[in-house]
Amino acid sequence: MQIDLTFTPAELAYCDLRGKIAVVIDVFRFTTAALAALEAGAAGIYVVKEVEEAIELRAKDPRLLLAGERRALKVPGFDFGNSPLEFTNRVQGRRIVWCTTNGTNAVTMAAAADEVILASLRSAAAAAEYLSARKKDCILVPAGLRGRYSLEDTWCAGYIARQLEGCAVSDSAQTAMCIAEHWSLRDLSAAQHGQVLLGLGMAADVEYCLALNSSPNVIRQDPLSGWCTLA
Ligand code: MLT
Repeated sequence: MQIDLTFTPAELAYCDLRGKIAVVIDVFRFTTAALAALEAGAAGIYVVKEVEEAIELRAKDPRLLLAGERRALKVPGFDFGNSPLEFTNRVQGRRIVWCTTNGTNAVTMAAAADEVILASLRSAAAAAEYLSARKKDCILVPAGLRGRYSLEDTWCAGYIARQLEGCAVSDSAQTAMCIAEHWSLRDLSAAQHGQVLLGLGMAADVEYCLALNSSPNVIRQDPLSGWCTLA
C-alpha cells in the first residue's frame, strides 16, 4: 500500500488517481461540517463547485437543502452556512447540496480516484482504520486555503498517514507526517484559517473542528451518483 499526498488540490493534475482512494480533508470547515450534517441524520450530501449550480439543482428539486459559504459566511438564499454547529435534527432525512470555497472544490478535483472519502480531525482515526482495512493505495488531499497550502489540513493528513503501518510513503506524505509529529494539535487554531474564523467570532466552530478522533464515522462518496453518505 502506498501513501501519497498533495499539498494543494492543484497538484492533483500531476497525479494518477486510478486505482486509488482519495482522502479529502478540510478541517476548517467543510469536511467537519459535512460529518456533523450526516451524523445529525442528513440523507446525503452532493458537492458542487459553483453557487449557481447549487441554485439550479434546487430549482429542479425544491426538496433539496443548500449549504455552504463564501468568505466563511452563509451564501444568501442558502439554508445553512458552513458551521458544523448549524446541523441539528432539522436536516434529518434531507439531502443537501453543498458549495464552499476550498473543500467542495477539492472533492470535485479528486473525482478521477476510484473512491473518494472525506476526513477531518474528528474522524481521523476512523479514516485511518478505513484505509487500513481497504489496503488500497491512497492519496491524501488537504483542501488548503484559497488554492494555497494549509497547516491544519496537512497536519490532519499527516496524522492519518502516521496511523497506517507498513506503507510506502511519498516525500510529501513523509513531510506531512513530520508536521503532525512536531506541531501541536492545540496550536492549529493559530493557523491562518483558524485565525480568520476566530476573527469572525467563530471560536466555537474552531474548538469543534479540533476535537481529534471524536467521531467513529467516515464519509464516502458514491462513485456513480456522487452523493456522499456515512461509509
Ligand atoms: C471551505 O471549504 O472553503 C471552508 O470550509 C471555508 C469555511 O471555513 O467555511
